[in-house]
Amino acid sequence: MGKNIANTTHTFFFCDGGSCQKAGSEKVVREARAYLRNNEHWNNTHTIKTRCNGRCEDAPTCIVHPGEFWYKELTPEKITHIVKGHINNDCPLETELLFKEGWDAQVSSKEIAPIKPKPFMFKTDEELGDCLITRGFSSDQYLYPLFLYLLEHPKGVTLSVTSEKPIPFKDVTAVNYTKAFTLELETKIGCMALIIAAVPKEKEELLQSKISITEYFYQKETEQVGIRFKNKFGETLGNIEFDSIHNEAWKYCTKIQLQNLTLDLAQL
Ligand code: FES
Repeated sequence: MGKNIANTTHTFFFCDGGSCQKAGSEKVVREARAYLRNNEHWNNTHTIKTRCNGRCEDAPTCIVHPGEFWYKELTPEKITHIVKGHINNDCPLETELLFKEGWDAQVSSKEIAPIKPKPFMFKTDEELGDCLITRGFSSDQYLYPLFLYLLEHPKGVTLSVTSEKPIPFKDVTAVNYTKAFTLELETKIGCMALIIAAVPKEKEELLQSKISITEYFYQKETEQVGIRFKNKFGETLGNIEFDSIHNEAWKYCTKIQLQNLTLDLAQL
């Protein structure tokens, strides 16, 4: 029989994302678990490895419940004191805290400014001609929401994936992201596949079709706005075009995907 979760007094969430792993999170988890085992707290506590907690600069990180305690820059030595402190309901190690409930702000010595897209810039592009262009984000945490939004708001949106005929987005009947790397756009006549998840370096074939560059543009000649997807080698994989600068889905792009960037046509 597994643990009786009803007896849990404390839960420790250890970040097991890439940055925390590089900073030694596995040693921290092992130390904490060994402490809990040897001090007879194994059955009334819980330790969980999580994906990235969004505070990579403070790696390795850990969150403790009950309460809202976020710890930073952990080491095997520190974690034993922290675990012990919480189990004994002593004060947490305040100096090791990144944040706790009641604080107005987090305390980090390694704060990194959030990455924001650069403003639209004028460019004479090989494919687009004179245009205003900027780069957005290409991780699946942006691209999957983008395609889901377009599924719900397809009006005036056209999708073209290289080697396939452009289709109005309203012909897309479902957006599925259940495979490891691939987003599937279902239409009545078939399925378009786009690679949007991070791909291991050795999977060369997938790297060719992985969206690594996402550009948002305004084309001077056609007065059209759109998105261009490229692989890491700079080869175009597909485009999305919007029928006007006032298109609802384009406005979503500038607000959510480009974090409120404005398109200043006076630059042209
Ligand atoms: S990988 Fe741990 S906070 Fe990002």
